[in-house]
Amino acid sequence: MIQKNHAGKIIAIISVLSLAYAVLRYHILGNVPWKDFPFYILNKGFSLAGFILITFNFSIGPLNNLGVKVSEGWMNSRQALGMTGFLFVLIHALMSFMIFKPEIFARFFEENGSLTLYAGLSMLGGIISFVILWAYNLAFKTNLRDDKVFIEAITSRRFLLLAMLFSLLHLFFMGFRGWLNPSEWGGLPPISLVAFTIFTMGYIINLIGRK
Ligand code: HEM
Repeated sequence: MIQKNHAGKIIAIISVLSLAYAVLRYHILGNVPWKDFPFYILNKGFSLAGFILITFNFSIGPLNNLGVKVSEGWMNSRQALGMTGFLFVLIHALMSFMIFKPEIFARFFEENGSLTLYAGLSMLGGIISFVILWAYNLAFKTNLRDDKVFIEAITSRRFLLLAMLFSLLHLFFMGFRGWLNPSEWGGLPPISLVAFTIFTMGYIINLIGRK
C-alpha cells in the first residue's frame, strides 16, 4: 500500500518562503546588492529552511498528541523533513565556511582579525549542533545496530533536541544584541530571531505533547 506523504510539497513551500523572507529583508528592505543573492542570501535561505524543517520533524508528532488533527501525509513526512533539514544545514555550513571573513562578517571579528567572544561561542554552538545532527542522521543507517543502547540514545528525540539547543546558542550569541533593538531591524526581524522563535514554539509543543 502506498503511504500518503506530503514531504515534497512541505519542503518546497518552506524553501520558497524562507528564501523569500531573506530576499525581502536583505535585498528589498535592506541594502544587500543583488550580486550577493547566489551565495550570501541563498545561505541564509538554506539555514532558515533547514532549521524550520528540523523543528517540524520533532514537533509534528507531539502536536498530534495534543489533539490537533495532523493528517497522515504530514505524519509520514517527518523523517524526510528531518533528513532534508539536515542536508540544508550541511549546505549552510559549507557555504558559511567559504565566506566566513572579516570583510563579509565584520561584526564577528575584532580589529586584529580574531573572533569576538560572542562569535566564538556562536560558531562553537553551530559546529557542536551540526556534529550531533550528523550523528543522529548517520545512526539510522549504521551497521553498529548490535549496540542497541548506544543507537537508541543517538536516535532518540532527546538527542535531536540536544543538537537543536546548541543551534539555539549558535543563533543567540550571533544575534541577541540586534534582537533587542527593533529600531535597527530595518522593517523585519532578523532571520536568527525568526528561527529562534519558531524553534521555541516547536519546543514548547514538544514538551507538553510528548508521550
Ligand atoms: C559547521 C557548523 C556551522 C557554521 C560554521 C555556521 C555558520 C553560520 C554563520 C557564519 C552564520 C551567519 C550567516 C549570516 O549572517 O549570513 C550562520 C547563521 C545561521 N545558522 Fe549557522 N552555522 C553552522 C551550523 C548551523 C546549524 C547546525 C544550524 C541549525 C540547525 C544553523 C542555523 C543557522 C541559522 C538559522 C542562521 C541565521 C541566519 C541569519 O541570521 O542570517 N547553523 N551560521
